[in-house]
Amino acid sequence: MKNLNGQVAVVTGGAGGLGEAICIGLAQAGCAVVVGYNRSEGPARALVDRLPPAGLPHAALKCPVTDAASLAALAAEVDKRYGRCDVLVNCAGTTRYVPHGDLDALDDALIDQILATNVRGPFAAVRALRPLLDRSRAAGGAGVVVNISSIAAVTAMGSNVMYCASKAAVDNMTRSLARALAPAIRVLSVSPGLADTEFVKSMDPAWRDEQARRTPLQRLAAPEEVAAAVVAAAGALSFTTGAVIPVDGGRPLA
Ligand SMILES: NC(=O)c1ccc[n+]([C@@H]2O[C@H](COP(=O)([O-])OP(=O)(O)OC[C@H]3O[C@@H](n4cnc5c(N)ncnc54)[C@H](OP(=O)(O)O)[C@@H]3O)[C@@H](O)[C@H]2O)c1
Repeated sequence: MKNLNGQVAVVTGGAGGLGEAICIGLAQAGCAVVVGYNRSEGPARALVDRLPPAGLPHAALKCPVTDAASLAALAAEVDKRYGRCDVLVNCAGTTRYVPHGDLDALDDALIDQILATNVRGPFAAVRALRPLLDRSRAAGGAGVVVNISSIAAVTAMGSNVMYCASKAAVDNMTRSLARALAPAIRVLSVSPGLADTEFVKSMDPAWRDEQARRTPLQRLAAPEEVAAAVVAAAGALSFTTGAVIPVDGGRPLA
């Protein structure tokens, strides 16, 4: 269903495991997609070539979310190429596994990297693209920000203590920004449980099976299911803002 026909979406971390599925989902819904990359320029360009065609051309653009000057340059380039941005998906994120009890291993450098990427990054992307998003609604567009959070925000179970805290901060920021940017811009979180990405597929199968077993729906999320929630948040859920949409098979219930 092309419910976002003719609109322009920017996806940070667009060449990653979930980012790729989200870019494909938005293109299938009719968006021209800007695949934002940091280090993965080659995969981002290759993805652009594979995306289903929309009315406007897709693009791969550099988008390091910890660098405000680069985000300003990205916004200027999106304005020059398209004259609009209707959907911003903040999907870029980082983490590293650290047992929650090992406080010394979660050093300040890792903490700063996680918070700068996962919390300051989405805020800075919204700040940079706000003028374009502000114009979207008046032009009949979605005018929406979708932050990719994690169920770790709720369960406090995840790759490390600060990763969980960073995703709780994202959900809180979703609510603040939804209030502050209304009525022009809607802001939502999509909050996946463990997803079946290539990275997760490379993990210990016994651990993965255990995660699936502890999930009421008895499996991990497919990246396409996360993408479907993003497309719904951007399109069909037009009277929803400040909400956190779980895509977790009921994991926190078990
Ligand atoms: N996979 C899961 O099970 C799961 C579950 C819940 C939530 N999430 C969240 O979903 C999002 C995507 O995760 P994923 O599984 O797709 O991970 P991934 O494959 O490792 O992708 C991470 C993406 O973030 C980008 N990135 C990292 N640091 C960046 C920076 N400083 N500036 C710009 N981009 C940066 C990377 O871009 P480059 O490669 O170009 O450097 C990459 O595209 C993350 O926010 C993650 O926390 C994932």
